[in-house]
Order: sequence, then structure tokens, then C-alpha cells
Amino acid sequence: MTLLSVEGLHITFPGRRGAPPARAVDGVDLDIRPGEIVALVGESGCGKTTLARSLLGLVPPTEGRVVFDGRPLDYTSRALKAYRRRVQLVLQDPSGSLNPRHTVYDAVAEGLRIHGYGGDERAAVSEALSRAGLRPPERFFLRYPHELSGGQRQRVVIAGALVLEPELLVADEPVASLDASVRGEILALLLRLRDELGLSALVVTHDLGLAWNIADRVAVMYLGRIVETGDVEQILTSPRHPYTQALLSVLPEAPEAPVVLTGEPPDPSRIPSGCRFHARCQVLAGGEAERAGVASACRGEDPGVLSGGGEAQVACHWARATIRA
Ligand SMILES: Nc1ncnc2c1ncn2[C@@H]1O[C@H](COP(=O)(O)OP(=O)(O)OP(=O)(O)O)[C@@H](O)[C@H]1O
Ligand code: SF4
Ligand SMILES: [Mg+2]
Repeated sequence: MTLLSVEGLHITFPGRRGAPPARAVDGVDLDIRPGEIVALVGESGCGKTTLARSLLGLVPPTEGRVVFDGRPLDYTSRALKAYRRRVQLVLQDPSGSLNPRHTVYDAVAEGLRIHGYGGDERAAVSEALSRAGLRPPERFFLRYPHELSGGQRQRVVIAGALVLEPELLVADEPVASLDASVRGEILALLLRLRDELGLSALVVTHDLGLAWNIADRVAVMYLGRIVETGDVEQILTSPRHPYTQALLSVLPEAPEAPVVLTGEPPDPSRIPSGCRFHARCQVLAGGEAERAGVASACRGEDPGVLSGGGEAQVACHWARATIRA
């Protein structure tokens, strides 16, 4: 069963200053199941935020579609408003998401008011704050954002998302602006929400180490495409795509020497032909692709789009050739 699927998604932005159009998302299929946390990982500029925003209907696709609960998204403002009760966005910087002049109570109640909630507002706000770990909730009602720690502010933002009882949270770098000491607490909170409420989440991060702590499944993105996907365990212990291998090699706990990626930083206005990673690929540069007989495919043939399902998949000629062999 699938809660949300992204099907053949392309999002292209007009080129800046005469540059060709930027293909920020360039053919992505991705499924999210109920109660599943998917980590979307990749370096800066690979299209993570654009893909995440498209799940909320904030960026309409240039091509392809987003399907939620069996229905393609309807981009009329009325339909999007109803949709945003079910899918909520949590951003990186809680200070930027909270109005400094609003109390915690008003910040959390805002969503209820926008959606004309007819129930007991105070009870709903209390429940959301408790779920987000701010207890007892009444103690926080009249506080202002500047009176809270960074971790508490992020909990208020999460409470504001939870109050509408969504089915999916899309969290874009939810702990990137927090101290290391509170990151673990916020991640534990997301895990608890999955377990207690069956909430699904797409968690965007450039940090594979963080994915390890939280995700059921990982999707690794490079220049607008998912290049490898699979269970967190499989991706982190036996990555198959050279790009995933390079990302893992720079984690402090990695057993081997870090792989330094060469070549130009990726530019979605100029996506290379063949494998889009080929100009930076350590496996191609080191001759291993040549030995496996795939070097010309690396330079000339696109390894294609991975299907969105949960099974382990990799978009790499060399990985496919060496697994078959
Ligand atoms: N509104 C826009 N107009 C033009 N180009 C854009 C727009 N939004 C994003 N881009 C470009 O699309 C590409 C992907 O951007 P995106 O913000 O999705 O990347 P990201 O993976 O989230 O990066 P980061 O880790 O730095 O947040 C970038 O090259 C960016 O410059
Ligand atoms: S297809 Fe070739 S160039 Fe691309 S990642 Fe695999 S080995 Fe490297
Ligand atoms: Mg981003």
C-alpha cells in the first residue's frame, strides 16, 4: 500500500542570466508507504527541497504527477488547502517558521483557525504540544519564541504541524540548525510519532549519518534523479552506487579513506549525457568501470529512472554489471 507516489516527476526552472533551464528534478519516481520514514539524501543543489516542496503542491510539476491516497494532486487553491491538512511541512530553521510576536499557543492554533476547526481548540493545542514533547503544555501557552531553546522552538513547529493530524510530514533538514545535543531528541520525536500515530515522513538531509538514525528507507539523489534506493541498513552497509559510496566515505565513522570527488560541482542547467555522475565518478576514473566493460556506457548511456517501490535499486552500469557477474 502506498500513501504518496511521485510518478515521472520533472521540475524545470527558467535559466538564470541567460543560462539554459535548470532541471532541478529530472525524472523521479518515489513511493512513501503509511508509517514509513524515507530519508532523501544528497549534496547541496541536487533538488531535494524542490522535490519536497512538490509533495506539498507548492511547486507544480513540469511533467509527471504526485498522487496522494490514490488521487493525483489538484492544484486549485481550495483543493490544496484541504490537502495541506493531510500533508504538513516542517522547515529547517524554527526561528524563521515562527512569528516572534505570536505566543506558542497562537502559533500552534494557527492551523486550526485557518482550517475553521470546529472542535475544542485548547484541547487540540494541548494534545499537539504534549505529542511534541512540550509538557505540561499549559506551561508553554503564553511563551514567545525568544523565550525558548532552539530544540523547544522546533518542537513548537512540529506541534503546529501535528495539530491538524496529518498523515505525512515533509521535513526539510529538520535538525540542521540545531545543536548536536538536541538533534537526537528531535529525531527520536519523529520516530515516536511514526510509532504512536503511524505518521509517515519524508526527511530531507544532506547527512547520511542522520538518515541512519531515523529512516526505514533511503533515497539518494544526484542532480535531479534518485540514483540509489533501498532499506537504510542495506544502503549504509553495502552501498552500490559510487556516489553513495563517496557520501558514506566522508562520515567520521567510515572505515576507509574518504573519496574526494573530482570534476565540476553539479549544475542542473548542464546535466551531462550518459551517466550524469560520470565526470566525477571515482569508479570510472579509477579504471574499474573499464575493467567491467561498461566505461563507454558510463559516458554514453543514461542508466535510467529507478521505479519508486521499496526494493533495493541502483542507477549505475558498473554496479549492475558487477552484481550480475
Ligand atoms: N525558484 C527557482 N528558480 C530557479 N532555480 C531554482 C529555483 N529553486 C531551486 N532552483 C535550482 O534548482 C536546483 C535544486 O535546488 P534545491 O533547493 O531543490 O536543492 P537542495 O538539494 O535542496 O539543496 P540544499 O541542500 O542546498 O538545500 C539548484 O540548482 C537551484 O539553484
Ligand atoms: S554508471 Fe559509470 S559513471 Fe555512472 S556511477 Fe556507475 S560507474 Fe560511475
Ligand atoms: Mg534544500
